[in-house]
Amino acid sequence: MKNVLVTGGAGFIGSHTVDLLLSRGYNVRVLDSLVSPVHLDNIKPDYLSKDVEFVLGDVRDKAVWESALINIDAVFHLAAYQDYLPDFSKFFHVNTVGTANLYEVIVEHNLSIGKIIVASSQAIYGEGKYRCKVHGIQYPYPRSNSQLEMHQWDIVCEHCDNMLELDETDEMHVNPHNSYSMSKYSQEMIGLVLGKRYEIPTVGMRYSIVQGTRQSFRNAYSGVLRIFAMQALSGHNLTAYEDGKQIRDYVNVKDVACANIIALEDKRTDYCSYNVGGGRQVTVNEFGNIMLEAVGNDAIQVISNGEYRFGDTRHIISNTNALRELGWKPKSTIETSVKEYINWAHNHPDFGDYVSSAMINMRELGTVRGSTLK
Ligand SMILES: NC(=O)c1ccc[n+]([C@@H]2O[C@H](COP(=O)([O-])OP(=O)(O)OC[C@H]3O[C@@H](n4cnc5c(N)ncnc54)[C@H](O)[C@@H]3O)[C@@H](O)[C@H]2O)c1
Repeated sequence: MKNVLVTGGAGFIGSHTVDLLLSRGYNVRVLDSLVSPVHLDNIKPDYLSKDVEFVLGDVRDKAVWESALINIDAVFHLAAYQDYLPDFSKFFHVNTVGTANLYEVIVEHNLSIGKIIVASSQAIYGEGKYRCKVHGIQYPYPRSNSQLEMHQWDIVCEHCDNMLELDETDEMHVNPHNSYSMSKYSQEMIGLVLGKRYEIPTVGMRYSIVQGTRQSFRNAYSGVLRIFAMQALSGHNLTAYEDGKQIRDYVNVKDVACANIIALEDKRTDYCSYNVGGGRQVTVNEFGNIMLEAVGNDAIQVISNGEYRFGDTRHIISNTNALRELGWKPKSTIETSVKEYINWAHNHPDFGDYVSSAMINMRELGTVRGSTLK
């Protein structure tokens, strides 16, 4: 498998995967629509290697796949729509239909594709796995708006009032609860089910929140690293949703790229799905303090103002034993991710404060709630 197509290869995870593929001697073709707002003015990013063959196109267009797949041996399908906005249908058009197009073209033209790696997400687990001391394992429903309005952030047992204890979520039980996560799970299902039926070895990679350089400044979905960096570097306090005690297992993008290579090269991954998480439980407040330490500004701090993002999970951490059994383990620390991002972002001509305008939009659309601001 020498010739690899990377959809979304101009993006954050895609470009790091591209670099690792090139360093291992693969020929790489990138299919990307350079979508806005991820990419400024639909321009190819400066970090994209000159050694790739670039195809401009949209995965919703079957004809684009037909030309992009010529002479290709393996595919990383990373292009996706990600956002917190309530444009529900777009998630399915881009993510679900885009993936169905890939398999449709392969089967229709009887193409010989040795491996497809589909980017899935930890988001497909919703609230993930918890344990009640009395009633055992539970996979809770999303928290209701009335619960969140009362600032009751934590999840209690559905049978008694005991606070649930967080457990590591393994690959067994999915529980998607928004359009993005449903669409990501549908991508995986298309890949694994149609892949198995038509003997196209496919792997689903369920990334936790990925952090590192090249995260688009304008992509509201990019997460806490981007938001905290923008706030810290412009001298503002870092604002955490809820009480900032939400637990996550952030993973560095270079570790994700290494996991992707294992998915490509190791036959044992065929028709399986894997969690790809950082393995360290960190609260949003702790993440904020790592940022403050990196920036070195004693005048600012991590604060919570009672706002919450409707639909967010309270806590989620992935069990990565299955991937570790194949020899993978995360090597980067969160401190490294933060320092690398700050150094990269600080010197980037496009870096600025995009958080404030995105927050106004998300408040207006009801994605961010609980604000006393107008
Ligand atoms: N970043 C994370 O924390 C994270 C976590 C879990 C899963 N994922 C998944 O990993 C993949 C890559 O995410 P990322 O963070 O690198 O995103 P990104 O936005 O940086 O990159 C996505 C790329 O896809 C391209 N794209 C978007 N729509 C397209 C379309 N219709 N046709 C062709 N190209 C299109 C964009 O131009 C962009 O270059 C996605 O599938 C995402 O759902 C990401």
